[in-house]
Amino acid sequence: MCGITGYIGDNESASVLSAGLKNLEYRGYDSAGIALIGDDVTVHKQEGTIDGLTIPSNADATHGIGHTRWSTHGEPTDANAHPHTDCSGDVAVVHNGILANYHELKEELNGHIFESETDTEVIPHLIEEAIADGADLRAAVMRALDRLEGSFAIAATHADYEGIVAARQDSPLVIGHGDEGMYLGSDVTAFVEYTRQVSFLEDGDVAHLYDDDIEIFNDGERVTREVQTVDWDASAAGKAGHDHYMHKEIHEQPTALRQAISGRVDDLAGNASLNIDLDDGFLQTIDEIHIAACGTSYHAGLYAKELIEPLVDISVRVDLASEYEVYDGHNTQDTLVVAVTQSGETADTLSAIRRAKASGMTTFAVTNTVGSTITREVDDSLFIKAGPEIGVAATKTFVSQVTALALFATYLGRLRGTISADEGADILEDIRQLPSAVQAILDEEAQIRRLAAQYSDSKAFFFIGRGLAQPVALESALKLKEISYAHAEGFAAGELKHGPLALVTENTPVLAFLNQSAAPEETRNNVKEVESRGAPVIGLATDGADESFCKHTIDIPELGRLEPLVANVALQLFAYHVANEMGRPIDKPRNLAKSVTVG
Ligand code: F6R
Repeated sequence: MCGITGYIGDNESASVLSAGLKNLEYRGYDSAGIALIGDDVTVHKQEGTIDGLTIPSNADATHGIGHTRWSTHGEPTDANAHPHTDCSGDVAVVHNGILANYHELKEELNGHIFESETDTEVIPHLIEEAIADGADLRAAVMRALDRLEGSFAIAATHADYEGIVAARQDSPLVIGHGDEGMYLGSDVTAFVEYTRQVSFLEDGDVAHLYDDDIEIFNDGERVTREVQTVDWDASAAGKAGHDHYMHKEIHEQPTALRQAISGRVDDLAGNASLNIDLDDGFLQTIDEIHIAACGTSYHAGLYAKELIEPLVDISVRVDLASEYEVYDGHNTQDTLVVAVTQSGETADTLSAIRRAKASGMTTFAVTNTVGSTITREVDDSLFIKAGPEIGVAATKTFVSQVTALALFATYLGRLRGTISADEGADILEDIRQLPSAVQAILDEEAQIRRLAAQYSDSKAFFFIGRGLAQPVALESALKLKEISYAHAEGFAAGELKHGPLALVTENTPVLAFLNQSAAPEETRNNVKEVESRGAPVIGLATDGADESFCKHTIDIPELGRLEPLVANVALQLFAYHVANEMGRPIDKPRNLAKSVTVG
């Protein structure tokens, strides 16, 4: 969960690498560094964000590698920042992932000088040993790789050898093919301003980048990887005038939703046209769906369960991916396992999918990231088409995930005959209304900002909802806590009186979803229970409904099953403005990173 970048070509390496690191900063931002290779290797690295890193221009450098870190082994310090070098200072290496056997390797490398507490540092010393035995850079990297256990992506250079040698094992690496050189990145955002021609490395690949060519090897054989054109442009990776990526991405939601829906609605048939490869016969006969996901994607999975079960008349189990287990005796033949993951690289989700596959189950991914590891491992994927999401807090990808899953629910319901064409058309009509309903919420930002300012110094925040709104209550609490560090919790509205009510005081605002789709009377009663304990209530209420017993209301356009999803957008804005009032680093919350590639 760090960011790797590399460049070899005609442009000034230092500026290409700094731009790449800036774009990759969401993957980790506790330290950053660059190695520039000319006649010798110069390393510039330090604790802190890339903004604090001074990189002198170096016209002699022909290529270089860079890294932005989210620490696992060793605290964020200058010494632990990457790149790491060997004893001679000629080899430089950046690394993403974890080496399981680094203790053992470090002991073996007795006599070498280690300057950091990282697991990474064994790699340049292993390369150094192989070079001392007569290997060239590529052969030395291959020899070092033979010794490494764990998941990783690395890039290595040497002062005396041409090019950059990169390798992946369970951690993403993408090559950019530009007119003015070859680029390397943990993802496409690292170099999308220079080229959109990319190839994705696969596990076991070792790539040797030259300024106008690339050679890729796997298991000792020369291989080729398809060069694809990505449809992201450079502006998609910038802030476009917003103070934070999160704010930009919240406002991009109407567009992201249109992309998710476009071409996927078949009005005549009252069906979603998803173009998926999963066999219709299989989908007709499955008797259970498992969803495995983490964090916000898990909440999208919970929302999907509430959509799918009544529409498709099938049982849906939703598990946190890190907890997902397949028990002996489970009917694996008739189960579809769905991974929901924005990045497609989350280690816990990947390992859940691997467990499902090992048990013989059919697997499916709902993801934002074309070419991601999950897409190569599952039987089929559905892309949410939200575009790049840089802010660590997931926003547009949550609504796009739920939307893609709502389309999938419609498709399954029509396929299995549990909903009619008319019912399908009604759901699709709600889906089609989503972008404008979300826009209506965005247009109310000033009211939401005022509420956020009024309550930003509260002791804690509680979010309550029922049915489809319950996952949104969990998601809204997660959003607020991760970017503001305030204590925030989401509950099923009916659960409050079974314990959490003890926490409710006049200093704990309660944000209540009063959607009409799930027992609104009962939720109103729950709201009255907290009001009578003095808590200020902000009700998210269907537009036109009289909820005057709430201290404040935010009107949500009426949208059936999707209304809580729209209400979620109001609370994304609430979380954003509370965090902004508190002066938090919204796009880079402490201790977090966008893509969690360690288990
Ligand atoms: C929270 C957030 C995380 C991710 C989680 C899974 O705002 O972004 O909770 O949802 O780390 O990530 P993906 O969806 O990439 O698998």
